[in-house]
Amino acid sequence: MCGIVGYVGGKAAAPVLLKGLATLEYRGYDSAGIAVWHNNKIEMVKAAGKLQVLRQLTDEGQSVPGFMGIGHTRWATHGEPSDVNAHPHLSSSGRFAVVHNGIIENYQQLKNRLQRRGYEFVSQTDTEVIAQLVEYYYNGDMLDTMIKLLNALEGAYSLGIICLDDPEHFYAVRQDAPLVVGLGQGENLIASDVAALLAYTQEVYYLDDREIVVLAADKVEIYDTNRDAVEKQAQHIDWDVSAAEKGGYEHFMFKEIMEQPDSVRKTLSPRLQDGQIKLDDFNIDVERLANFRKIYIVACGSSYHVAAVAKYILEEATRIPVEVDIASEFRYRGPIIGEDTLMIVISQSGETADTIAAMREGRAHGAHVLAIVNVLGSTIAREADDVLYTWAGPEIAVATTKAYSTQLAVIYLLALKFAGLLGRLTEQEQAECYQALVNLPEQLERTLQDKEKIQFLASQLYNKHSIFFIGRNLDYAVAMEGSLKLKEISYIHSEAYAGGELKHGTISLIEPGTLVCTLATCDRLIEKIKSNAEEVKARGAYLLAVAVEGDERLAGIADAIFYVPKTLPWLQPSLTVIPLQLFAYYVASQKGCSIDQPKNLAKSVTVE
Ligand code: G6P
Repeated sequence: MCGIVGYVGGKAAAPVLLKGLATLEYRGYDSAGIAVWHNNKIEMVKAAGKLQVLRQLTDEGQSVPGFMGIGHTRWATHGEPSDVNAHPHLSSSGRFAVVHNGIIENYQQLKNRLQRRGYEFVSQTDTEVIAQLVEYYYNGDMLDTMIKLLNALEGAYSLGIICLDDPEHFYAVRQDAPLVVGLGQGENLIASDVAALLAYTQEVYYLDDREIVVLAADKVEIYDTNRDAVEKQAQHIDWDVSAAEKGGYEHFMFKEIMEQPDSVRKTLSPRLQDGQIKLDDFNIDVERLANFRKIYIVACGSSYHVAAVAKYILEEATRIPVEVDIASEFRYRGPIIGEDTLMIVISQSGETADTIAAMREGRAHGAHVLAIVNVLGSTIAREADDVLYTWAGPEIAVATTKAYSTQLAVIYLLALKFAGLLGRLTEQEQAECYQALVNLPEQLERTLQDKEKIQFLASQLYNKHSIFFIGRNLDYAVAMEGSLKLKEISYIHSEAYAGGELKHGTISLIEPGTLVCTLATCDRLIEKIKSNAEEVKARGAYLLAVAVEGDERLAGIADAIFYVPKTLPWLQPSLTVIPLQLFAYYVASQKGCSIDQPKNLAKSVTVE
């Protein structure tokens, strides 16, 4: 989704803004722009298309002098991607420039009111309303103006605003949309996420909703809507700038695939101590756990696919009914929630609008919310009752890989902890699970070593128009992720089906040459999925399979098999997904697709 960067300090602002926006490119966008205060003027340049266009228009920022400015990458919501709809937006008089992430829900009413007062609009965006409204409220006191603005706007937004009258400060605020303040030496910044700040500082302020930030080169002041100063604790970000760079890899996605053993190790090892599972500050005892009558797991996209895996595992581990839900459905279906509900929300970014709303719905009805989140200080991390972080480091590619894997790792820890507390595993079983978790990073490394075989198959199969992924039980949950990975980045139509469900419709689409990928790692269900594989094979499908090393049961049927190391059934999804990620990557690469920034997609979906 949209990206915001703002800068004030001793450097020329435009190159800093362009560099910051480049770091945010991964979020997904279709136009970009900057506005810089210089010599009593606000210089603005913006254009549809990629940042490259803006770089050329501004001669890499050199043609836009000045030491304070705001920049934006826009992912179109209101109005097509075009030069005029790109941000920043100026107020009618040109006194204010605004960049905005999110959606202003009451923009039409505000626009009507402003038009009645003679304000003229040039774009179709909701953002232009903000610029005009700031001008309308402005009485020489920017803090007062910002408070009035906050009271008028409905919806989700983060904003960066510069005012022609004020050469030394710019202003920022957030409401249900991400915005972080970076604290530099003689310079200060804002950005939609910390990745854009890392080149300048690792010290940040995380903002709460409706806090108004006034940034100057040498200080940052924060106020609440009563004009009272807010004291903030700066937080140190452990990620360094190299974590958000490609480091010699052609694509972030490939780098992140290869980082998975390390990310999973970092997520697991601090929590595996002397044979015990330590879940940070999540103090759960048997009494509390046994009081939960229901577990909801709610998420979007790939995080939802982790939830789908988690359902099988946590239900078996606890015998507490587990329901998984897509956040955008959950929030509007009136779910039955009470104080006996444990709600687990899963989110890489911690900023997905629907997941935030679902979490709030859960909390409002008394659920205890445990969040599994990758981004420190994100909205979900701050609002949940408990947080377990995935230590994946910054994930830049839109198509998630290492965040997915580390989320799975946290689910295993939870399952083992819960099963232990409830006495559902013998001591020996617990020790086996513990050891399997310890071994997992090394097994991931081994699985990744087979990548050339997958690359070769991708080079043979990349021109297929449609692919079906089938599996049963945990393999079905992983099939969903494999299918999503492929369609996200290669634009090949693909679907995931529970093996037993094929006969109820989908099999009518199988014809000679149709590619079917059968996941066959659930030992107790191999014969069942084998029958499903036979059914599609009999209709001429080209059959790929994923099986565990040493299991030859699919060997006579499949046209090609990827073998993955064997681990305990609960942990197998971590290894099964690897060939599917690699297959998606290599197919997209063969097709010459824009792998890190697939069309129309955004890394973090901060609007409904
Ligand atoms: C977007 C991303 C997906 C991600 C989903 C949920 O669709 O492209 O990769 O799984 O959002 O994001 P979250 O940050 O909540 O995990």
